[in-house]
Amino acid sequence: MLPHDFAGLYVGGEEVDRILRGLPGLGGATVDKVRPLLDSLAPAVAAAREAFVGSLTGPEPFARMARRAGLAPAEAEVLAVLAAVELSPQRMRLLAYVQDNVALPRPTLATLGRMFAADDGHPGERAVAPGAALRRAELVEVGADGPWATRMCAPAPRVSWALRGDDSADPGLPPGARRVAGPAAPDPPHLLLVTGADAASRLRVVTGGTLISPLPATPGEWAALVREATLAGLVVVLELDQPLPPAARERIAATRHLTWVLSADKELPLDTLPDRPWSEERLDSGTAEADDWQGALGIPPDPGYRLTRSQLGLVAAAAGGDPGRLPDAVRRLAGGHLDALAVRVRPRRGWVDLVLPPDQTAQLRELAARYRGRDIVYDRWGFPPLPSTGVVALFSGPSGTGKTLAAEVIAGDLGLDLYKVDLSSVVSKYIGETEKNLERIFSAAASGDLVLFFDEADALFGKRSEVSDAHDRYANIEVAYLLQRLEAYPGIVVMATNLQGNIDQAFVRRISVSVDFEPPDEPQRRLIWAGAFPPGAPVAGLDLDFLARQFKVTGGIIHNAALGAAFRAADEGGPVTMERVAFALKREFQKLGRLRTESEFERYFDLVNGVDDVAPAR
Ligand SMILES: Nc1ncnc2c1ncn2[C@@H]1O[C@H](COP(=O)(O)OP(=O)(O)OP(=O)(O)O)[C@@H](O)[C@H]1O
Ligand SMILES: [Mg+2]
Repeated sequence: MLPHDFAGLYVGGEEVDRILRGLPGLGGATVDKVRPLLDSLAPAVAAAREAFVGSLTGPEPFARMARRAGLAPAEAEVLAVLAAVELSPQRMRLLAYVQDNVALPRPTLATLGRMFAADDGHPGERAVAPGAALRRAELVEVGADGPWATRMCAPAPRVSWALRGDDSADPGLPPGARRVAGPAAPDPPHLLLVTGADAASRLRVVTGGTLISPLPATPGEWAALVREATLAGLVVVLELDQPLPPAARERIAATRHLTWVLSADKELPLDTLPDRPWSEERLDSGTAEADDWQGALGIPPDPGYRLTRSQLGLVAAAAGGDPGRLPDAVRRLAGGHLDALAVRVRPRRGWVDLVLPPDQTAQLRELAARYRGRDIVYDRWGFPPLPSTGVVALFSGPSGTGKTLAAEVIAGDLGLDLYKVDLSSVVSKYIGETEKNLERIFSAAASGDLVLFFDEADALFGKRSEVSDAHDRYANIEVAYLLQRLEAYPGIVVMATNLQGNIDQAFVRRISVSVDFEPPDEPQRRLIWAGAFPPGAPVAGLDLDFLARQFKVTGGIIHNAALGAAFRAADEGGPVTMERVAFALKREFQKLGRLRTESEFERYFDLVNGVDDVAPAR
């Protein structure tokens, strides 16, 4: 190993000679030649090694790192050499000199081999082979280019930082990964599956310091995750929303020095689990309990809200820890996610605004009571939650008969917001898209207490067709998916349809309450007309009995006509009169393509008869 003056820059005849003499069988500069030199150094090397091995049980960062990665002393030695070079520019110059090449400032695989060749049983460069502990723990990186022998080896930058006493997280961690400080990982390392609906409850199962992360998406993210957990001695909690892909399975199986926790809301399929022993913990309910409430808001549980631990955490943060702001914070839960998918309605109208036959009103009140009472009936009394844990209601009836209004009234009665989803906009002609849209809605809704209202339900719950083409088959899958999703949804869902007979039987079985809406009779119309004009509206000589008796229309039309008359009055600077209402009704009839008859309009018939728009004189 005697470099010439222009080391690495040219290959001279002398060097070629030396290399030829070193070929197997030709004798030359082999280990034997340097043996006397090595022998003379042996006592010092032995003493240094003993001290090194002794230090591996100590508290220094290097020793901790070696223990956490499960390194044998020889492997720790290789890491120590690599780190010693990495942290010192002078040593890099020595390496370049020894390796005869200024472009090789770090130990190459060949150099590692030569360095430890004299020690029987030492792995040498094999300590950094792909399957070796140093590589499985992602502590060492080996160059990927060039001939094998001249690939340089170095500790990962995070390792060098740790040896320098800095504990910043690896910048390559998957986005969203977070470290939670705590006592060191329990021994021995194991694999634990935690399943249950509530993410925060799943986390509570894990004790000690944790590294909580979504599934890494790239090899670089995997490397950073494994390295971070090794260096900081953390338990890795993977939050999964899908079964483990094969790459993940292999990583987890290969890093037996780490404790992994796979946290998922559904059980993971057995054939997707890593090949190492595991145990499982299943959590039934994630409902926040008294001590959770006490810790988050300093109050006993509020019976008005049934929150999971995750929800309680979010709510407490949104309320700034102030129990007085709890109702607003709970409303805010679903906002944001769901606002992008549905229209939020803050209920303003109540039972007095809804005019229905007594039986229908009673059914709606029962619906609200069902939702309010589910804690007592299911949880306390132990009734099996069938057909679903939540409440599924179907409102059917012609347009304008008050289905949407009834949903608003119920939401208001329960103190919840109403989220209106137009199913015809969710149903996509693209295969698989409908499920994705629905999944988004249901999972966003699950984060808050709200009334989920699906308008135009027949777009999805319409009779399942005989399979006649590929798309029909997918439409059936969509319905099957929705049925299953409905069963698991704990909240209140109201579906509205204009065509009751068109609803699929399988779906009807999942419905807990079904309410028929019919066009109002005369006394009901009278009440709806009376409620259609707010107290502040200027009215003059309105004959509500006449309007209710003459026009067999729905509440929707009454509402629109009252509004139309009000705008006309505002525009013309007068009160709302019979003439203006009659004229507004004409407009409604025109929209519907409905005939205007003298027997209906009677004395106002002349006013509404023509095709042209002669506005009433007063
Ligand atoms: N039974 C009713 N009692 C009081 N007001 C009503 C009633 N029905 C309808 N209205 C009035 O008509 C408006 C429209 O009714 P709503 O939107 O609830 O009808 P719908 O049954 O949902 O119709 P669609 O099937 O077209 O969606 C309501 O906001 C309300 O002002
Ligand atoms: Mg409606």
